[in-house]
Order: sequence, then structure tokens, then C-alpha cells
Amino acid sequence: MTEFIPTPHPNPAGIQRVAVLTSGGDAPGMNAAIRAVVRTAAFEGLEVMGVRRGFSGLHRGELKLIGPRDVANTIQRGGTILLTARSATWRTPEGRASGAQHLRDNGVGGLIVIGGDGSFHGAHLLEQEHGIPVIGVPGTIDNDLYGTDHTIGYFTAVETALDAVDKLRDTGASHERIFVIEVMGRHAGHIALDVAVAGGAEEVFIPEDDKPIEDVIQIVKDSVKKGKTGSIVIVAEGVPGGAQGVGDAIQAGTGLETRVSILGHIQRGGAPVSSDRILASRLGEAAVYALMDGVSGVMVGRHGSNIIHTPLHETWEKRKDVNRDLYRCAKKLSV
Ligand code: F6P
Repeated sequence: MTEFIPTPHPNPAGIQRVAVLTSGGDAPGMNAAIRAVVRTAAFEGLEVMGVRRGFSGLHRGELKLIGPRDVANTIQRGGTILLTARSATWRTPEGRASGAQHLRDNGVGGLIVIGGDGSFHGAHLLEQEHGIPVIGVPGTIDNDLYGTDHTIGYFTAVETALDAVDKLRDTGASHERIFVIEVMGRHAGHIALDVAVAGGAEEVFIPEDDKPIEDVIQIVKDSVKKGKTGSIVIVAEGVPGGAQGVGDAIQAGTGLETRVSILGHIQRGGAPVSSDRILASRLGEAAVYALMDGVSGVMVGRHGSNIIHTPLHETWEKRKDVNRDLYRCAKKLSV
């Protein structure tokens, strides 16, 4: 049983203090990741500075020491206790220089950035221009980062959207209507595909596929002929025209009563499901260990049950494709 007793991690980098921030769109599980960073660091005898308001706060010097008790009762909470922002100032060299100075002034040996591709761009530039060690932790509901099977927040967003789809199905079936439902995913169809399969949708529209709208209209017409009462079409936000465009075209093409429902930011909130909490806990721990090992400029991710490191630039340069097998499966199951 000795292997289950935690032992201190080596610290060849000699890191004494790390900083952590959340950036970009909030995602359920970000708090669990912050907690994991703070508590892993405490276990290893390191200090943690929490940066408020992401890179906006960093360039203004909004840093404060946080300890294990500051993250009590946060693992189950959505949003981010550190607050987040999309920072225009960070896109300027002056903004980044000021942030780097604040980190040096506070004796911070490495920065952990919890966010998506935009946040990783910011972290990458900080490392390249100022030599500050940085580690990315994938936190976005979109699941669109190369280098990890899943991102923190994705599982919860899928559950939230699915709950809405189930409810809309009741109304759709009762009124024999078509429901076109838009889920988030600026450039990616991961949420849409999972929700479509789990929600038993007739059709799914994702940015990765440029299928003609005529095909969808035909599928909806056929489903009515087959005796289906009501149809669900899931559309990813990134599809040109969005759900409104698809819904208008379906109504015009089929003559059937069609309603459009855009789920929007509801998908970003709420208590994280267990998969997000566990992923966040493991990646937060891995981020601290990466800095202690002297690793920098990578995102920590999970592939299968293994923690892996991917250079930050690859997380946005390489595309993470949707699960094509699942896409094929979705087609079959809607006959
Ligand atoms: O990246 C996460 C995400 O929720 C996307 O799915 C969506 O397109 C975007 O953020 C919305 O951003 P904002 O909250 O700034 O409107």
C-alpha cells in the first residue's frame, strides 16, 4: 500500500512561489483547478499568488497570496473565484511587460494559466518575451484544444445543454414541431456532436462539416413521413448563420412549424460534474509539478489516463478533430 502515500515531488527548478490565473470564458471546474494548484503547492511547501481578472489583472498587479483555506468550499462551484476577463491590454507589448514586472517584483517563479487558446497565446508571449516560465491548464467548455482528450468544463456544458434539449423535446413532441437548438462552440462542434447523440437528435450541424442545408431539409421531411412527432436539430454556434439561419431555412423548406432556441451562456455556468472536477484536480496538480520540474511553455493535458505535455503553440496550431465515428453513429441512429 505504500505507493498510495504521497511523497514530496523533487524541485530541481527551485521554485518557491507560483502564480495562477483564469482567463477567457469561464468554465465549470476552473475553481477545482485553482484549488488543486493551491493545495498541491501547499503540500510541496510552495506559496501561491492568485491573480484576479486574468491577464487584465496581471498587468495592473492584482496579485495576492492565497492558501489552502482560501479555496475551501470551491470544488463544487461554477465560475471562477479569481474572476476572469478577455484582455485587450495584454495584446500589447507594454501590457505584457508590466505583467512580467509584477511577477518578478512578487518573486513568482512560474505562472499557471487556466483558459483556452486565446489565454495560451498570451501565456506563450509572456514566456517568449520575458522568460517567465508558464504552464497552461485547458479550461474551456469548447473542448477545442489539441493535446488533451477533454478540457475542463466541457463535460458539464454537455450535461447542461442535454438537460435543455430533453426539455425542449417534450414541447417539440407535444406540438409536433421542429426544434433547432444552438449550443456553444465558436469554432468547434464537440459539444454539438455529443449533445446530438446523447439527446437523440435527428440532425447535427457542426463547423467541421459543410453539408448543404437542402440535405437537412430533406432529413426533416423524411422524419415526418416516418411518423416522427417533432424533430430536434442541433446546431453549433460556429455554423454560418447559426441556429436562426438553419431554422429559417427549415421552416421555409418544409413548411413545418419550427422554433429556434439558443442556449447561450447557460452552458458555461453551474456546478461542475464529477468528470470536470477530477480532470481539473489532476491537471492542477500536474501544472505545479511541471513548473517544479523546470518545464515551461506547455499545456498539461490528459490522454487516456496519462498526463501529457504539449507545446502551447501546438494547442491552437494543430486541430483537434471531432470524433468522426460518433458522427457516423449519429447518422445511423436517427433513421
Ligand atoms: O470559448 C468559450 C465560449 O463560451 C464559446 O463557446 C463562445 O463562442 C464564447 O466563449 C462566448 O464568449 P463571450 O462570453 O465573451 O461572449
